[in-house]
Amino acid sequence: MAEDRNTFYITTPIYYPSDRLHIGNSYTTVAADAIARYRRLTGYDVWFLTGTDEHGQKIQRSAEKAGKDPQAFVDEIVAWIKELWAALDISYDDFIRTTEKRHREAVQEIFSRLYRQGDIYRGRYEGWYCTPCESFWTPRQVQERTCPDCGRPVEMVSEESYFFSLSRYTERILEHIRSHPQFIQPPARKNEMINNFLRPGLEDLCVSRTTFDWGIPVPFDEEHVTYVWLDALSNYITALGYPGDETLFQKYWPADIHLIGKDIVRFHTIYWPAFLMALGLPLPKQVFSHGWLLLSEGKMSKSRGNVIDPMILVDRYGSDSIRYFLLREIPFGTDGIFSNESLLQRINSDLANDLGNLLSRTVTMVEKYFEGTISAPVDTGGHESDGELRELALATPPEVSVLMDKLQFSSALEALWNLVKRSNKYIDINTPWLLARDESRKERLGTILYNLCESLRFISVLLLPFMPRTPPRIWSQLGIDDRADLQGWNSLERWGLLPPGVRCRRSVDLFPRLDIGKELASLLEEDHEKRESASAARAAESLPGKDVQKMESSPQAAVTIEEFSRLELRVAEIISAEPVPGTDHLLKLLLDLGEEKRQVVAGLASHYLPSELHGKKTLVACNLKPAKIQGVLSEGMVLAASTEEGKVVLTTVDADIPPGSRVT
Ligand code: ME8
Ligand code: MG
Repeated sequence: MAEDRNTFYITTPIYYPSDRLHIGNSYTTVAADAIARYRRLTGYDVWFLTGTDEHGQKIQRSAEKAGKDPQAFVDEIVAWIKELWAALDISYDDFIRTTEKRHREAVQEIFSRLYRQGDIYRGRYEGWYCTPCESFWTPRQVQERTCPDCGRPVEMVSEESYFFSLSRYTERILEHIRSHPQFIQPPARKNEMINNFLRPGLEDLCVSRTTFDWGIPVPFDEEHVTYVWLDALSNYITALGYPGDETLFQKYWPADIHLIGKDIVRFHTIYWPAFLMALGLPLPKQVFSHGWLLLSEGKMSKSRGNVIDPMILVDRYGSDSIRYFLLREIPFGTDGIFSNESLLQRINSDLANDLGNLLSRTVTMVEKYFEGTISAPVDTGGHESDGELRELALATPPEVSVLMDKLQFSSALEALWNLVKRSNKYIDINTPWLLARDESRKERLGTILYNLCESLRFISVLLLPFMPRTPPRIWSQLGIDDRADLQGWNSLERWGLLPPGVRCRRSVDLFPRLDIGKELASLLEEDHEKRESASAARAAESLPGKDVQKMESSPQAAVTIEEFSRLELRVAEIISAEPVPGTDHLLKLLLDLGEEKRQVVAGLASHYLPSELHGKKTLVACNLKPAKIQGVLSEGMVLAASTEEGKVVLTTVDADIPPGSRVT
């Protein structure tokens, strides 16, 4: 195993491709990338894994709502996610998708193995299920039918299922947590796990489902699909080739850090260790959970339509600015607030003013006073500020190292910015523009500019883990872009490696100053457009079928009488209504159309009780192409009206008119 090698294995959660990712998911991934880059830079053999968690009821329902086959649905989102990671310069070594063959087969093998050895057995589950979290809850844990984690409604499920013998691992997990103080970080989360879950004792965990089919089939019982968290957590080892082709696994397992948000600590510090123990594998060295990125109005949520789209921000301000902000603004581990104002302010003050100005002032002076050539420094003694700058530059890399080992990105950047600020102050103290007036001080002037360039070299290398695009731009202006020997972490052990005689080239500003008022206005506008299209999409979602969406997307297009008359609208009486199994928003309606009876599926379950619909007369579009929705045949569409907020009201017919009457 990886114990005595210089290897470093870091993972992010694998994200649900149920929708486009938002700034919160980017936060975890950017942090993991900074660690990966930092470790590579300091000589580690790094393996950085990310990916997508593509199975489960939640994904199946999202696909259904979008009117798409689940695989096609996730393929599209995953392609977008990969683009986002490319735009944010995420340097992952592998991207695992749980729908890949390598993963599916490995999970089936793991399931069989656990079954054969008696850790998995067959039984019956009755209890609560939270689909957004994909988690089971006991009656004691659920109050008012809502999920203790996310507060959304839970569903009662009752089905045959396989169980994992989680209860028998309670003591071993407790013991591991106690004897490995680094295992759960930050420590507050450890107490939460011990007090809320482990002390009361664990119950066996349901690890298969039968009421939907978007998952990895249990190999010896194909009615069942694997519970999505057993499927998902396994990605950390299946991506390394376990079981079977284990070269990478031997090299990198156990993971050094599973980086996650605080919402999924329980899965990573209780379920996952138990699965690994059952497989006889060592546990990850650390599960580090960071805090929540909030908006000033509270949680970001896709249903509220207030999520921040990272792609828009990257397009406008560049990935380095966004990465810097995410890592600098909030101490890692605690919650913090994301706002456009604070992002723009950081860009202006830290990036444009502090860093950007330092470079442009320095390079401008080298060009102006020395025709772009960096002079050899001369120690004429008695210049306290030279020593201070040098000492601070030399002290900064070790300080950043200590902080990066603890994942304190914000403090690490603060330490780095102390050097930036000190360098700016060095300019102010030494007033090079005054020295330039006196030919006899030219040597001193050259020394000052040399020190500034060397300090900028230190800064550029220190920036590499956080803002990978900026250092090459600095090197190019300093004239050292082809000098790899001056760009490594080791090159920060000595001050003065920058060779005199290299030529500076002033170029565009690293971070142009932004007009904050203007930027806020444009961001607000983009946001408005997004919210409007989101609410149109939501309104369409609550009605069955994708045809509605098509109509919505071109509201202005005029329809001819001929086109309209091709649509067959009739009055229908609802004979019966019942929920579609495995969904929370669909109802199956049986309609009386006079001469015939029809079944249609409608997204009305969140708006009407089945009993409220019995006997109602409504309008139905009869000649739509039949469609299968969640496996249930739908031959038509009932007409309903919806509001912006997503309220849906069925159309009704006022006068007494027989079912089947044509609407003209
Ligand atoms: O939970 N602030 O996937 P997911 C900070 N598939 N981080 C946030 C955040 C926010 N507002 N919102 C999300 C899943 N995150 C499972 C994981 S792992 C084997 C399976 C980040 O798409 C944070 O890292 O819901 C959180 O843990 C993760 O996104 C959840 O992503
Ligand atoms: Mg989640």
